[in-house]
Amino acid sequence: MAVPESDAFVFFGATGDLAYKQVFPALQALIRAGDLDIPIIGMARAGWTLDKLRDRARDSLEHHGGVDADAFAKLSARLKYVGGDYQDPATYERLRQALGAATRPLHYLAIPPSMFATVVQGLANAGCAKNARVIVEKPFGRDLASAQALDRTLHEVFPESAVFRIDHYLGKEAVQNLLYFRFANAFLEPVWNRNFIDSVQITMAENFGVEGRGSFYEEVGAIRDVVQNHLLQVIALLAMDAPTGRDPDAMRAEKLRLFRAMRPLDPKHVVRGQFRGYRDEPGVGPDSQVETFAALCLHIDTWRWAGVPFYIRTGKCLPITATEVIVDLKCPPVAIFDEINAAQSNYFRFRLGPEVVISEGARVKRPGESMVGDAVELVARHSPAGEKSPYERLLGDAIRGDATLFTRDDVVEAAWRVVDPVLHSAAVEEYEPGSWGPAAARAVVAGEEGWHDPKPEETAPC
Ligand code: BG6
Repeated sequence: MAVPESDAFVFFGATGDLAYKQVFPALQALIRAGDLDIPIIGMARAGWTLDKLRDRARDSLEHHGGVDADAFAKLSARLKYVGGDYQDPATYERLRQALGAATRPLHYLAIPPSMFATVVQGLANAGCAKNARVIVEKPFGRDLASAQALDRTLHEVFPESAVFRIDHYLGKEAVQNLLYFRFANAFLEPVWNRNFIDSVQITMAENFGVEGRGSFYEEVGAIRDVVQNHLLQVIALLAMDAPTGRDPDAMRAEKLRLFRAMRPLDPKHVVRGQFRGYRDEPGVGPDSQVETFAALCLHIDTWRWAGVPFYIRTGKCLPITATEVIVDLKCPPVAIFDEINAAQSNYFRFRLGPEVVISEGARVKRPGESMVGDAVELVARHSPAGEKSPYERLLGDAIRGDATLFTRDDVVEAAWRVVDPVLHSAAVEEYEPGSWGPAAARAVVAGEEGWHDPKPEETAPC
């Protein structure tokens, strides 16, 4: 059923970091593409002016993607500013006036979750929530209980169908392609199960630290920051059954089934690390036990996946910035020719960032007399990251009311249930910046092969 488009875009936190790095560039891109032709209202604490906000927008674009003169002129013309304390009912009255004839605004809460309740109630009391949608940013809660509390707060004012929870990973071109590749090809399905797949690994590595976000990171840590959301969402797309159609709820239903079949993590199978020097970062406690690295193994108790380990590893200050999935297939049952190194045998590789790569590892015979072979990769896709940024894609979808790439309350809660048991576990182990994390992480992967470390990607062949 067609849903109406939003007729105004209101963003709270207009002077903040997220607006600066992501929202202004996405708005300019949407305008350039002809996908945004509604008033844009920036909300922030008092003390700003519209001109100052326009300057901020220009500065943001100069640093993130560049200014497109024509699109920026339109953005500037459409931009309004409403300032005031979020606790003060008068702020929302001013917003009501700024909305003018708009009756279906989209409110984007690019603000700390601790402010959600105040803002949501303020919107409702001033009549700004009627027929409106709301976008909320991650982290969505700190654990299962706080996520449920947040859901109750939002639902006091907005029905679930009006709540759009953003996980920018779901807007990435490579992540979209993962979903497409899986369900647009029939040849995968017969092998996509415990009979042919030995294990699945995901590494999300970053070669930088917390970059001035020490106080944010102290509240979060790697598991809350990227495992509970980005990486579990990637696993869901890799492991779920085919949705019964393109309806957003068909996809969410399959994800939910998958998350519910995931065994809650066992602290014995989780290694938490902290890079040396993290405690010297501004905003970080001298005895901080917050993890900047995590390696873990999780299990999905379904007929498709029973016995197949899903390994996840993520960290700051690792040797490279790359996110990669390796789906390792089982070895041929008998080595007829050369001894095959299982690690170089058959696998699927999905590079999710910075490039987009889908390839399959195979063996071919080396030219010559003897029956020995080489490991090669059959490349299905090798390209730079998509042209659309995740925020451009997701904000555009939310304005159109398309919830496919947003997460539903029960799905987010099911993901929290998986990580909840390890949020407070064990002290962290220190690791050297530029290494692959603490030594103990090696033992998380069963067998001799260990982790597949992502390598710098060679230039795309096409
Ligand atoms: C964010 C995390 O959600 O994702 C960051 O808060 C992380 O810590 C970032 O660096 C990674 O996203 P991307 O798109 O740069 O891979």
